[in-house]
Amino acid sequence: MKLTNYYVLFASILLLSSCNQKKEEVKITSLKDSYKDDFYIGTALSEDQIEEKDVKVDSLIKKEFNAITAENIMKSMFVHPSPDKYDFALTDKFIAYGEKNKMFIHGHTLIWHSQLAPWMEKIKDSVQMKAFMKDHITTIVSKYKGRIDSWDVVNEALNEDGTLRKSVFLNTMGERYLADAFKLAAAADPKVDLYYNDYNIEEPAKRKGAIDLIKKIQAAGGKIDGVGIQGHWRLASPSLEEIEQSIVEYSSLGLKVAITEFDITVLPNPWDLKGADVNQNFEGNAKMNPYPEKLPDSVQVKLAERYASIFKIFIKHKDKISRVTFWGVHDKQSWLNDWPIKGRTNYPLLFDTQLQHKKAYNSVMQLKEAKK
Ligand code: G3I
Repeated sequence: MKLTNYYVLFASILLLSSCNQKKEEVKITSLKDSYKDDFYIGTALSEDQIEEKDVKVDSLIKKEFNAITAENIMKSMFVHPSPDKYDFALTDKFIAYGEKNKMFIHGHTLIWHSQLAPWMEKIKDSVQMKAFMKDHITTIVSKYKGRIDSWDVVNEALNEDGTLRKSVFLNTMGERYLADAFKLAAAADPKVDLYYNDYNIEEPAKRKGAIDLIKKIQAAGGKIDGVGIQGHWRLASPSLEEIEQSIVEYSSLGLKVAITEFDITVLPNPWDLKGADVNQNFEGNAKMNPYPEKLPDSVQVKLAERYASIFKIFIKHKDKISRVTFWGVHDKQSWLNDWPIKGRTNYPLLFDTQLQHKKAYNSVMQLKEAKK
């Protein structure tokens, strides 16, 4: 071989090895890419986020998430403020945002006792309620037929002991409102996935209630495709066993399981205080707001470990899980700063108020990186 050929060969080897090095250096840098073979990674969007008001937040959303839920604007008081009036201005923007960014779009929510328009609370009998449900569900689901990927058809219909909540829907129509809601939604868009969504349904009594409710809907001929475990959890509860058992049990009903409103509070809970009255005024009580400036590193680590243990379960059961959605993009936005006590500083999500990755973000990412 001529000397020049040696040079060419040597240069090619150098080039190839530098390319390979570059490939190795390209680390997966977002939640949605890390988990792309497992499930969607979603976030709830506020009104400002739907309107892309903050460029930095917007680019974070697009980088990290591939599924969206509207935190408030699709609730009945906003979209259906009076009997003959629908307001789709913001919902149209929300759908357009998801389509533009090729995201999975989840609708939240059709039938919920909370955030109802005042006129809905005045519905007195089954005739009026049936007419309301038919109009409300058919109008909204048909409007976005083929554009929304899944719906929370009924939200939070259960009490903590697993019995049915005495909502305006139950009081007027009895329990048939549940199956009716799913039938109406399926009739309006036969292909969209339909979910029952609730909190604390990983806890045994409420879980049993949810399973009974789902079976009743199925027995009455309602099409139900999934269950949304909201996932508003704490550092020490629910137990990992309860979470795993719930995923397995719901999946065995033939349903997809989604974690729909995930966050982990790090603050004390007034219900844990012996004799605490939640109506008591805890605002401004320093004991109840222990980290107003900064989360101590020790708690930051606990939060990261808790997120990692829970995500390990999600990965183990990825064949059953369709989506994991966080209830908000960053800590500043979280509803947990104002509930159950107004004006606290909570740290429940993966991004801090400066939009920086928290240790919890790294711990969730590392679970995937470790496998490579
Ligand atoms: O619309 C008013 C606005 O006009 C006013 O200026 C502003 C002043 O505070 O309040 C606005 O209403 C707020 C509303 O969100 C819309 O932003 C309410 O005060 C506030 O209480 C309400 O909270 C929402 C809550 O649902 C209502 O129940 C939270 O943002 C939202 O995160 C939360 O989400 C629920 C899920 O939908 C269902 N599962 C539980 C979850 C957490 O509660």
